[in-house]
Amino acid sequence: MGLPGAVDMDEALLLEGLVRASQAKLIVETGCGLSTYYLAKGLGVIGTPGKVYVFEKDVPKMAGVADALRGACLEAWCEFIPGDSVTNIRSLLDNGEVGEIELAFMDSDHHYEHVTRELAVIYQHLALNGIMIGHDATHDMRAGRAYRDFAHRHGLHIVIVPSKMGLALIGGG
Ligand SMILES: C[S@@+](CC[C@H](N)C(=O)[O-])C[C@H]1O[C@@H](n2cnc3c(N)ncnc32)[C@H](O)[C@@H]1O
Repeated sequence: MGLPGAVDMDEALLLEGLVRASQAKLIVETGCGLSTYYLAKGLGVIGTPGKVYVFEKDVPKMAGVADALRGACLEAWCEFIPGDSVTNIRSLLDNGEVGEIELAFMDSDHHYEHVTRELAVIYQHLALNGIMIGHDATHDMRAGRAYRDFAHRHGLHIVIVPSKMGLALIGGG
């Protein structure tokens, strides 16, 4: 799963560690790949009944990632939802039956407007003390600016982890 735009190993291990440390059970990911494996592994290692809801518009890619997770016996911790992330996060969470997001990892379309829309829908469903993590915070200036502007507009804390592509950790407030 060494695809362009994917998290590198340090970022992947940090994601796994954040899942384990936070004990988050309801996790959202936008844009699947290597990151999906490590988010699911974080849940699998602690054996919680949690779930990573994976939003991805590239259906063949999603099928490949699902196969890899099956091969690693991690499929029980993931649910794959094909299509546009913003539309589908809304459909899944708006009726309140699934619960609130405890950890979100955003790595789909990096245009400023799309990142801002994703942040808005995720924040609307974010649990108290939930955390939003944005990839490419330093690698892609559009995404980085969207993370910073959103955090400032909503009075949230933002920390940029100086990883290879930059991870924005956003929460609190
Ligand atoms: C940079 S890659 C994700 C890499 C992955 N997080 C990893 O670490 O391997 C971006 C992904 O976002 C998906 N994507 C782009 N726009 C999207 C959208 N509007 N909704 C859902 N997925 C989208 C692309 O198909 C692509 O698979």
